[in-house]
Amino acid sequence: MRIELEHLSKAFDNGRLVLDDLNFADEVSSLAIIGPSGGGKSTLLRILGGLLTPTAGRVIIDGQALQPSERELTRYRREIGFVFQRGGLFHHMTGRENIVRPLMVVHGYSAEEAGKRADELLERFGLAEDGHKRPSELSGGQQQRIAIARAIAPNPRFLLLDEPTSALDPEYTTEVLDMVSGLQKSGIRFLIVTHEMGFARRACDKAVFLQEGKIREYGPSEALFSQPQTAQLQQFLGRVFEWS
Ligand SMILES: Nc1ncnc2c1ncn2[C@@H]1O[C@H](COP(=O)(O)OP(=O)(O)O)[C@@H](O)[C@H]1O
Ligand SMILES: [Mg+2]
Repeated sequence: MRIELEHLSKAFDNGRLVLDDLNFADEVSSLAIIGPSGGGKSTLLRILGGLLTPTAGRVIIDGQALQPSERELTRYRREIGFVFQRGGLFHHMTGRENIVRPLMVVHGYSAEEAGKRADELLERFGLAEDGHKRPSELSGGQQQRIAIARAIAPNPRFLLLDEPTSALDPEYTTEVLDMVSGLQKSGIRFLIVTHEMGFARRACDKAVFLQEGKIREYGPSEALFSQPQTAQLQQFLGRVFEWS
């Protein structure tokens, strides 16, 4: 998938630029977005997902510019899978219903088709025994895996993940990241905001370092981590790895 950003900027009400003239163009299959808190990572992801519109500039995906009209954005959002820090499962529904309902309500599947798809995914991700449980009966890791299964159920064009493991106890982080890495092997393209630097480095083809609303570095993940070019990235990595 080709992603292009042209002079993309975003300011909220106070006028300060949270994203400051981002320019980018590349073929992306798995992209890590890293950088310090407040640097604009979530804002960028939300714009890419059509949840927010930029103040200036534009996003072009596979040659098509995102149109800022609500109608177009609603259509576009349906084609994309989202996973947030806390999966946002519906708490009054079972894990399986969390997958089934959006397929029916948003994507027009019949009950039978939706159920079949949910069962197939639960089985594939080792969640078959857990589908009948409500989120409160599932571990944080299982909840996030259901959230990811829900996001990929309608075969989205790509998946956007915003710190999917940062609210988890460490023992669950690996199972969620393993799942994301497995998706990549099955051809699902994704962009992930993460503080898991090992995952960004080894599981993502490319990485972008965003700081103070600017793309400071971009390139193949391995190169970005092994040979950071800017003082900002060197300093950021130094802090992240200080105790590891
Ligand atoms: N809806 C909003 N209104 C005002 N300011 C916001 C809003 N969302 C984010 N910001 C500000 O934008 C900056 C970048 O935020 P964010 O994109 O969440 O960064 P990150 O995900 O890298 O931590 C922060 O200073 C944040 O306070
Ligand atoms: Mg964020």
